[in-house]
Amino acid sequence: MQIFYTISETQNYLKTQQKSGKTLGFVPTMGALHAGHISLIEQAKKENDISVCSIFVNPTQFNNPEDLKKYPRTLEKDCELLQAAGCEVVFAPSAEEMYHNLPKLKFDFGNLETVMEGKFRPGHFNGVGIVVSKLFHVVKPDKAYFGLKDLQQVAVIRQMVYDLSFDLEIIPCPTLREADGLAMSSRNMRLSVEARALAPHIYKVLNLTKAQLQAGASSVEAHAHAVAYFKNYPEFELEYLEIADFDTLMPIGQINSPDKTAICIAAFLGGVRLIDNIVF
Ligand code: PAF
Repeated sequence: MQIFYTISETQNYLKTQQKSGKTLGFVPTMGALHAGHISLIEQAKKENDISVCSIFVNPTQFNNPEDLKKYPRTLEKDCELLQAAGCEVVFAPSAEEMYHNLPKLKFDFGNLETVMEGKFRPGHFNGVGIVVSKLFHVVKPDKAYFGLKDLQQVAVIRQMVYDLSFDLEIIPCPTLREADGLAMSSRNMRLSVEARALAPHIYKVLNLTKAQLQAGASSVEAHAHAVAYFKNYPEFELEYLEIADFDTLMPIGQINSPDKTAICIAAFLGGVRLIDNIVF
């Protein structure tokens, strides 16, 4: 496995591979890798000649400096996991390498960033758009793999790829879960034992809300029920629970019933911000 820390080394190596006709599958990450990330690498390996993983805790997408400071950094262990998974190339730049000068460009994703993550983390998707477009320019992948746990991120990146005519395919991949339903996330490692035991309530509430909607409850009723559920678990600080149209991510009112519905949630538990969703 090749590990590069600079843009130029990475570009030189990957250019040579592409000139010899090899296809590149790319998995951008912020490290602290878990089985969910490894499943993306496995899919990238299956569908391409070379798999490339980037590991970069991107400062421009954190609106909360404390959150950035506490984000787990485990490069050595990440590289061991990637090596074991058969990943061919790792790009692990420093913040200085990526942002020698802070970018002046600003993305505006319109409606896509006024709801949910965009509403509660102002500037977050601008930072994601900046770093992902920079990474796409460095790696020039044929396909890029993103987990659907970050449903809104996938929608934003799809829009960016379309608007800027990036010559690549975005492959959304299913959320991997622990045996008790908790969505795999790098943040889970920051949960205390007590918080970890409570965390599966997030998935329970998603399923409960889905069952209520399917049984004919309105989105207002289902939403109220979910909020009431969390009243029994004051350890959770619910940021949002949205019942949204999967395509537009706009909240579902009483008049529109979309082909596909997404229920999305963000909650703090013991100081750790967790997100999850289900689509049906
Ligand atoms: O999903 C993530 O880990 C990050 O948002 C990404 C796509 C690697 C950009 O920093």
